[in-house]
Amino acid sequence: MALRKIRIEQVNTRDGFEQFARLPYQIYGDRDAWWPPDVHNEVDLLAGRALITAHLNLCPFAAFSDGRLVARVSAVVNYRYNQHWNEKLGQLIHFEALPNEEDAVGAMLEEGLTWLERHGMTAVRSGFAAFLDYPYAIDNYGALPSFLLRGNPDCYHRYFKNARFFTEKGQVDYTAPLTPEILERYRRMIEAAQAAGVTIKSWRDYGFLAAIDVWTDVTNAAFDRHWGWNPITRTEVRPMLLPLQPTPVADLSMVAVVDGNPVGAVFSVPDLSAQLAKVRSGVRLAPERGGGTRGALVNIGVLEAARSRGLARAMAAQSFLVMARQQMRFAGYTLVLDDNWPSRRTAESLGARVTGNFVTYRREL
Ligand SMILES: CC(C)(COP(=O)(O)OP(=O)(O)OC[C@H]1O[C@@H](n2cnc3c(N)ncnc32)[C@H](O)[C@@H]1OP(=O)(O)O)[C@@H](O)C(=O)NCCC(=O)NCCS
Repeated sequence: MALRKIRIEQVNTRDGFEQFARLPYQIYGDRDAWWPPDVHNEVDLLAGRALITAHLNLCPFAAFSDGRLVARVSAVVNYRYNQHWNEKLGQLIHFEALPNEEDAVGAMLEEGLTWLERHGMTAVRSGFAAFLDYPYAIDNYGALPSFLLRGNPDCYHRYFKNARFFTEKGQVDYTAPLTPEILERYRRMIEAAQAAGVTIKSWRDYGFLAAIDVWTDVTNAAFDRHWGWNPITRTEVRPMLLPLQPTPVADLSMVAVVDGNPVGAVFSVPDLSAQLAKVRSGVRLAPERGGGTRGALVNIGVLEAARSRGLARAMAAQSFLVMARQQMRFAGYTLVLDDNWPSRRTAESLGARVTGNFVTYRREL
């Protein structure tokens, strides 16, 4: 086989950003169902126009094989992550690649790693960064992943291992069937919390704008020592979540209040597959994956002082009851670290089972 001509480029033009953002269409475009990228948002991020870029030094790389774009990645120094954890951890986000492109992908990852080393980083992570990157799937290949999660091809693991990465963390995705028996169990969980003085309100009832700030503050406090997290600001979260005010998110997301103070928050989404996924015509999604019947809890946090009193369980139960009222038959409990037992126990107590597995990679420099 003739050797292919490989070229790695730093991307810094408007056209280059567009082409970079559209690569997933080549990788996933022939699937029955997939989540296409928000190209406009991604171009804004690459061009330094997104609010979050104030906290980042970001350099996108593209790999070409015989003149054709075959892989992409962005090297990132995330200042606030490093400040929060007192680390020098670089991140490789946006990774996507066509299959059978070992040489091009290897060369591109090397470029990214060299750039991070030159910027003083001593280790690199790929597959988790708050608001920026999600882990790599190790099962359900080819199926529509849960909202926000990846459905990457299996060759990605070979690419990372060949570039001398190792698995830093495992993550799981849960699904609960919203059967009448389970919904009854949820009602009892909520009653128990109410009897203990907890009020659970949807973001709509709490006041959507106020609930956004509660979510930011509770999340920053609850996740302060959670692996992979970095603090976020009200200023960046408001414009991200405000457009969701008129949507079912306002009824599915919850705030828990004790003695007048917000102490817990849940962010949940309805089934977004009809609006946001690309589904080939004639294809029917499995009901636990989408098609109008799978909602998802995306984030849950309880302040330390209020933990182990059934608040998480009750907030999630309330969110799942509303999902059931809105015709959803399954609820996702999305992305939990393998060793986050409080959260895994919460998912299990809600009747959820593991339905997807993921990993985040790391390499020392
Ligand atoms: C995970 C979290 C939301 C749980 O909140 P909580 O209000 O303390 O949970 P609950 O009191 O409702 O308990 C739910 C289940 O978890 C179990 N649990 C709670 N804390 C636990 C702990 N420290 N260790 C083991 N199990 C624990 C409870 O026993 C209960 O299970 P059970 O019904 O089988 O008894 C909370 O610990 C948190 O905010 N952690 C930091 C942020 C985080 O990890 N969020 C989840 C990301 S996926």
